[in-house]
Amino acid sequence: MMMYKTHKFDHKVDEDVIFASKDSEFILPKYKIPKEQSDSKAILEIVKDELFLDGNARQNLATFTQTYEDEYIKEIMEIGMNKNMIDKDEYPQTAEIENRIVSMLADLWNSPNELTSIGTSTVGSSEACMLGGLAMYHRWKMKRIAEDKDISKPNLVTGPVQVVWEKFARYWDIELREIPMEEGRYYMDPDSMLEYIDENTIGVVTTLGLTFTGEYEPIEKLSHALDKLEEKTGLDIDMHIDAASGGFLAPFCAPKIKWDFRLPRVKSISASGHKFGLAPLGCGFVVWRDVNDLPDDLIFHVNYLGGDMSVFQLNFSRPAGPIIAQYYQLLRLGFDGYKKVHMNCYKTAQYLAKEIEKLGIFEIIFDGNPNKGIPAVTWRLKEDAEVSFNLYDFADKLRSRGWLVPAYSLPKYADNVVVQRILVRQGFGLDMASLLMQDIKRTLKYFETHRVVSHLNEEDVASLNHTGR
Ligand SMILES: Cc1ncc(COP(=O)(O)O)c(C=O)c1O
Repeated sequence: MMMYKTHKFDHKVDEDVIFASKDSEFILPKYKIPKEQSDSKAILEIVKDELFLDGNARQNLATFTQTYEDEYIKEIMEIGMNKNMIDKDEYPQTAEIENRIVSMLADLWNSPNELTSIGTSTVGSSEACMLGGLAMYHRWKMKRIAEDKDISKPNLVTGPVQVVWEKFARYWDIELREIPMEEGRYYMDPDSMLEYIDENTIGVVTTLGLTFTGEYEPIEKLSHALDKLEEKTGLDIDMHIDAASGGFLAPFCAPKIKWDFRLPRVKSISASGHKFGLAPLGCGFVVWRDVNDLPDDLIFHVNYLGGDMSVFQLNFSRPAGPIIAQYYQLLRLGFDGYKKVHMNCYKTAQYLAKEIEKLGIFEIIFDGNPNKGIPAVTWRLKEDAEVSFNLYDFADKLRSRGWLVPAYSLPKYADNVVVQRILVRQGFGLDMASLLMQDIKRTLKYFETHRVVSHLNEEDVASLNHTGR
């Protein structure tokens, strides 16, 4: 018979098992810093477990930002974690990489001369839009002052914009003239734009990839309408293109659409690297057509980090990782790679649009056509659809399978129209889309047998539609 020696309880060994450790015996303090230290492994596990409640980012079909990153991007993010993007003197090679990306984008966006274009990286499109807007505002002010004209009533004319432009207008005390939508017209058209412009207009902002529907605004037509206005009245109005999503899509997938520096009126373009630029979160860019389009009085020269450094940014410190990862993606994928990745997303979006339309109760508002917008699908319930649920109920039920497919109302004068939208990003391919369709069909079946008697509304469904409103 084999004999075994029994061991005495070994406290140290027991503590190595996280879920037997004393740290996992307590509900951790939530709103005050605990007095004592704890075991890092145990706390890491507890924090990670808590984050499970966030759900799965890949099933978040509301967000425009990247939710997939390869192992190399993770490695780059680690390298860039302790490099401060602002310390250009201390990390000159990182600064050089930022500079190269700006040149690549100026070229991608058809700058007449990418060597005299100027730009910067930012934390995202919001900061990039603010900088583009500020430069526009200063150009207008300088021109008016030179002509000895009043500068007290600036206004900004836009289509249906993301909330960043509301913020811009409010923070800098500029009247926002946002062209209202109408049922059936969910973008700014030239005629309505012209009605809102006067001599106090600092510029026009149009969006390449509207947040509400995914559609591109008719930028070339808007620009021609402004040319005609100038011929008639002498008013010379600049355009800033908010290409948060479209800036990294149209050049690859719809190169014939003229929306960029090919139009002389376009003085600046902003875009999110962390959206269809395929960089991880924390990456945006703004580029001006020419160095003269960025007024010098907006640029600060700082020297306390060593050397003379010119900065035009809203924040100071930020990690270099996302910018270096952007560079990696541009080099690794090249033009062909970006086109392939994005065209696959369009294919998935178009598949979903067709399948959703086949269900018979939904009207497709945007079907993911690469010549008209971004890889997204937007739909509404048909007016005569005989169903007991609304889109808020539908979104809520889909959430029980982990899918985040936001429902929201459109902005003013079309706010009676409630839509639902899916954004297709890399990592959400046809196979995943077919699984989503199964869940959509299962949800519709459920509502056939469980009629909704008390509807949810916009406030009940904490749906983040990324319009920010
Ligand atoms: C058109 C548009 N502009 C600006 C933004 C803000 O972008 P970011 O989240 O990169 O700050 C978004 C975000 O979705 C957007 O869609």
